[in-house]
Amino acid sequence: MPIIAPSFLASNFLQLGDACNMVNNSAAEWFHLDVMDGRFVPNISFGMPVIEHIRKTTTKICDVHLMIEEPEKYVEDFKKAGADVITVHFEACRHLHRNIQQIKNLGIKAGVAINPHTPVHFLEDIIGYADMILVMSVNPGFGGQKFIPHTLTKLQQLKQLITEAKANVLIEVDGGISLDNAAAIVAAGADVLVAGSAIFNAPDPAAVIQQLKNI
Ligand code: DX5
Ligand code: ZN
Repeated sequence: MPIIAPSFLASNFLQLGDACNMVNNSAAEWFHLDVMDGRFVPNISFGMPVIEHIRKTTTKICDVHLMIEEPEKYVEDFKKAGADVITVHFEACRHLHRNIQQIKNLGIKAGVAINPHTPVHFLEDIIGYADMILVMSVNPGFGGQKFIPHTLTKLQQLKQLITEAKANVLIEVDGGISLDNAAAIVAAGADVLVAGSAIFNAPDPAAVIQQLKNI
């Protein structure tokens, strides 16, 4: 069964506490927290102070997705704010190998995200170091976009790369995931499903989480 990681980007920020309670009482194991800097992506979301407060509401895994330039300047602060997993973008890191070590040295898990234009084989030399690969299935920056179908091919390639390297790596998929395409995404190799609008725009978000879980 996939791990479900609701993306709070799609929640009503005026009722963030209610969103946390809903996820806490749901079948979701992770909180997916999208940090955007207006430079790496053309949007700005939220940062450490918000994550710090969310952290206090939950014992579930806080999965922090950094869509920011120079993430190495901030990973320690995000760990202090409560991150259990920090994912940095392949495209935002000049020294990715060092950045992964930096995150792991904080005692937390390190993820690497790839944008839709980044080929899976670019991960060959770091696959043995990362704890998770996040495959973006939309261009990062906004919720509510359409799933890019080519992602399914990339997931199969990634699964093969991980098997060949005998690496212990989770595959997370993020963007445009709904009840309509989740089964195909899991069949292609996803371990963690991120979903924002499909969950938070639904009349019964917890029911959608349960349905994604049972996929
Ligand atoms: C996009 C973010 C996603 C986003 C997913 O840049 O990384 O986590 O919130 O939202 P949906 O599920 O609506 O595509
Ligand atoms: Zn995300």
